[in-house]
Order: sequence, then C-alpha cells, then structure tokens
Amino acid sequence: MISKDIKIEEKIDSLLAIMTLDEKIGQMTQVRHFEEIPEDAISSGAIGSIIHTEGPLPGSNAASWQATFTSLQKKALASRLGIPLLFGVDAVHGQNTYDGATIFPHNIGLGATRNTKLVEKAAGITALESKATGFNWVFSPCVAIPYNEKWGRVYEAFSESTELTESMARASVLGHQGRRLDQNSIMATAKHFIGDGATDNGVEGGDCTLSQQEVRERLLPPYHAAVDRGVGAVMASFNSMAGLPMHANKYWITDVLKESMGFNGIVVSDWKGYSRFGENEIINAGIDMVMAVDGDFEMYRGGLKSGVENGQVSQARIDDAVRRILRQKYSLGLFENPFPDATLIPKIGSDEHREVAKQAVRESLVLLKNKKKTLPLDKNLGKIVVVGEHADNSGLQSGGWSIHWQGSAENYSGSTTILNGIKRLAKGEVIYDMDASGDHKDADVAIIVIGETPYAELFGDIGGEIDAYQLTLTENHKNYINTYVNKGVKVVIVLISGRPLVTTEEIDRSDAFVAAWLPGSEGGGIAEVLFGEYNFKGKLPHSWPRSEEDYKGKFGPNFWDSTYAPLFPFGYGLEY
Ligand code: BGC
Repeated sequence: MISKDIKIEEKIDSLLAIMTLDEKIGQMTQVRHFEEIPEDAISSGAIGSIIHTEGPLPGSNAASWQATFTSLQKKALASRLGIPLLFGVDAVHGQNTYDGATIFPHNIGLGATRNTKLVEKAAGITALESKATGFNWVFSPCVAIPYNEKWGRVYEAFSESTELTESMARASVLGHQGRRLDQNSIMATAKHFIGDGATDNGVEGGDCTLSQQEVRERLLPPYHAAVDRGVGAVMASFNSMAGLPMHANKYWITDVLKESMGFNGIVVSDWKGYSRFGENEIINAGIDMVMAVDGDFEMYRGGLKSGVENGQVSQARIDDAVRRILRQKYSLGLFENPFPDATLIPKIGSDEHREVAKQAVRESLVLLKNKKKTLPLDKNLGKIVVVGEHADNSGLQSGGWSIHWQGSAENYSGSTTILNGIKRLAKGEVIYDMDASGDHKDADVAIIVIGETPYAELFGDIGGEIDAYQLTLTENHKNYINTYVNKGVKVVIVLISGRPLVTTEEIDRSDAFVAAWLPGSEGGGIAEVLFGEYNFKGKLPHSWPRSEEDYKGKFGPNFWDSTYAPLFPFGYGLEY
C-alpha cells in the first residue's frame, strides 16, 4: 500500500488551504499536449496533467519530446502555486508510442512466459524508456481477465487465469514503480476497473452481468495485488456493471477500491469519461482526474465548477481528489525534480534493453505440436522457404498499440522481423515466398507465418451478436498452408495473434505449430527457438478452443458444468 507519508500529507494540507476552486479543478484535469485550450491554461493552473497517445508527436526525437514537456512544465511551475504536471503515456508494451523504443511482447505473451522476474524487468525498461521520452506516468498494466476471446483487447491482458494475472500485476507494478514511488520511478496504472474483459459476448465497453461474488473472486484479485504493491493510479473502465457505467459506479470505485481496499492513489477516467458517462456523477462516484480531451476541456471545467457551486458535488470530494493527485506528485519527487533527464536518452532501444525483450519473445512461444521432432530445425538445411506477410513486417508482428494506436503493417525503427532472425541463423538457402506463389516443392521446410492484422480496443471486437464468429484464419492464410502441404513440403506454422484462434484443421495439417502471440520489436527471438538455440518455455495463458462453439464465453455461472473441452488446456506447452 502507498505509505501515508506524514510530511507529504502536511504539505498537501498547506497547499489545499490556499487553492482556489479553479486551481483544484485544474489539478483534476488532463488534456493532450496539442489540445486547443486557452493560451494561458497551464500557466493559470487550469491543467494538472498531460496525456500522449495517438496523434501529433511531441517532437521528432527524444530530445525534442523532452524539450516539449520541459516547456509545458515550465509554464506550470510559473503558475501561482507552481504545481508540476504529470505526463502520462500509453506505454503498454514498452514505450510503444516512440519509434525506436524497445517493444516487448504484448501482455498475453508475457503471461505465457510465467516469468514474473522477466515481467518486472520488462516493466522497468518500459518505465525507463518512458522517462527518457519525458513521461512520469504510464497507463499500464491492463489486469483484465478476458472471459471471451471475441473481445478486442484480449492481448492487453496477461491471461484468463486470475491467479496468473495477479502475480503478473504485482511484478509489473513493482517493475514500473520500484518498491515505492519516488523520483526514480514512474507511476503505473492498473486498468480498466472493473469488468472490462468480462462483458457479455466480449464487447468492449459493454455490460458485465457477472454476480458481485464472481467479480470479487475472479476480477478483483489482480487489483488487490496492484494496490498492495502501491500502484499509483487505477483507470476506470468503459463498461457498465449490471447496467450502471463503471465511471459512475460509486460502489466499486469508492466503497470497494478506495475504502475497503485502501487505495489512496488517483482514479483516472478513461477517454472523454466526463461527457460519456454522466458528468458530475463520475466525480461523485470517485473519479479524481478526468481525461478532458478532444474538446471536452471547457465543458468539463465549467460543468464541475457549477456542480460544486450548486452543491451537486461536495467540496470534500474535490479536496479528496486533489489530495490524491498531489500525493502522487509529491511521492514522485516532481516538486524537486520536475524535468526529464537527458542522460536517459541513449538507453532508448539499447542493445541491453532489446536483449531482455528478445528473451521475453523466446519465453513467450508456446509449442502446440511437434510431429516427429520437426523442430528444432537444423541450421544446415539446404533450402528453407519462409511464407506470409507477417514473416517480414515488424508492424504486423507487434499488433495494436505499436507506434500507432491501431498498429500498422509497416516496419519501425530498430526492430527485427522473424525473417531477419531466420536469415541470421540458417546456413543454407533462405527464400521469402510472401504469398506462397513460388515454385518451391524442393524446399526442406516451409516456415509459414500467419495470423491477425493489428487492431486496438473496439476495432478488435468480433461480432457483437452471439453467433457472429470470425476467430479463424483468413482464406489467404489457409491457402498458404494448403499450398505447401499439397506440395509435400514439411510445414512449420508460426501464428501471430492477440488471442487463441480456431486453428484445429491447420494444426492438424502442420508438422509443427507455434503460438507466438504479438512478439513486438525483437522478431529474431523466434528463430533462436526454432533452430534450437533455446528450448520452448511458454505455457498457454488461455485454454485453446477446438471450435467456434467454444467462444461462447468462458467461466460464467454455468461454465464449469458446460461441455467445453478445449483443444489444449490452459497451461499446455511442449518442449524439445
Ligand atoms: C483506452 C485506455 C487508454 C486511454 C488513453 C482509452 O481509449 O481504453 O486503455 O489508456 O484511451 O489513451
């Protein structure tokens, strides 16, 4: 739990005593760094925090990002009370908004590693690279428990297992923040509170109809772990709980999270939370800081001010919110050290960091099939054919939240593709037959890399209606496999995906099948395992469905009595 430092509490008391209502609401306000807001908004104390996610970059390189945030910080320090700003970023698998940063496997891959020490290290590197680009706050880790793989954010979560997610949450918060929040750490955010991954039919922002008991038993434990480790912030979720938007849900936010669990950090809203979920009701429910972005600034500020003036929101609630925000600013040492540290810049994307990300890639790979010891591959094979656009594209192998919010199909700086890694290790001929149109029946093996194209948030949702399943491979990708199987070439399939897909037939037709999740910038790590430089270590973080029927959603009141018999159970994974 975040320690209640008496000196800090006294400093907060003195500040609160002299703050105007406008200044208090300012602390509770977060905007984008390029937001159209009045010229003097920061210098008049009307802003408490800045967010960067998709959108115009703060600069062209890390030094200019730092310079942008330094100049915004100077404006805040020149305000009447000189309260520093928090700078938050969606660094969810490395500082993934910066082209050239080390990008780790998405959390689902980290869940497969089962390696909490490694997750702690990865979070430490993410924290450092985020600091190096000017931030002191990350909106990570996502500690959702996905109930249904149709949800578009399954890969942002570590696992369908509560216990595994709990241990990963603990490790991630420790890695980001250290033993306690101080000037060397960065503030982490456990998100999205609560029920994000457990909505009916896996709809992003939908309704979660689980019983209170199930929410407590299955969804709450990772938040307990994060709070016990001192997580500085919790983000409210877009979903509703039994019809009531989580942003306006006083029971879960105030009664449970703050009061009974003792969370004394910041509850931040999600995107435009104020205009979307009931305006002042969200403040009364316990939201402390609002993402007043994309034009919400004036409406939020004005709305909350009149809410306080007409008694709809109590002064005590405002003071509590501001106290929580100031507590984190003091704990992070921002009053003494408000500016980014230029000496960190050379560490961004350094070899040392990439080596850890590569280890994470290797350990995340789950071997689902290995007929007659097809793997490991002999480096001396005469001819290896590599197939599929995912094989030579670091954008495709990284998924959403990679350089762009929705990800992209473009290579980015400093990354290595899977093909690069294969070419580095193979001693014989390596041919890239991207769309399986080449004539290579003489190949010793075809490594076919296929899977999902990048998506984020609701864009990754499937269906919405219960029977609208599409969790299968595309016809093109199935053809790549069929083409090589029909030529009589041995086939190794590497699946790049943010969730398990229904691949029963393809697994059947292959000689070896590897679930590689969304490995991030170090695609080379995959080749190191395929060629046997390292053994497989990954274990399934989700049970693997046999058919589309299996996507009716996991758990739930009747789940364990159902006939669900996955193709591979949770925890499955072969070794050499
Ligand atoms: C997402 C959050 C994210 C926030 C800020 C929202 O749309 O749900 O996970 O942190 O945007 O970019």
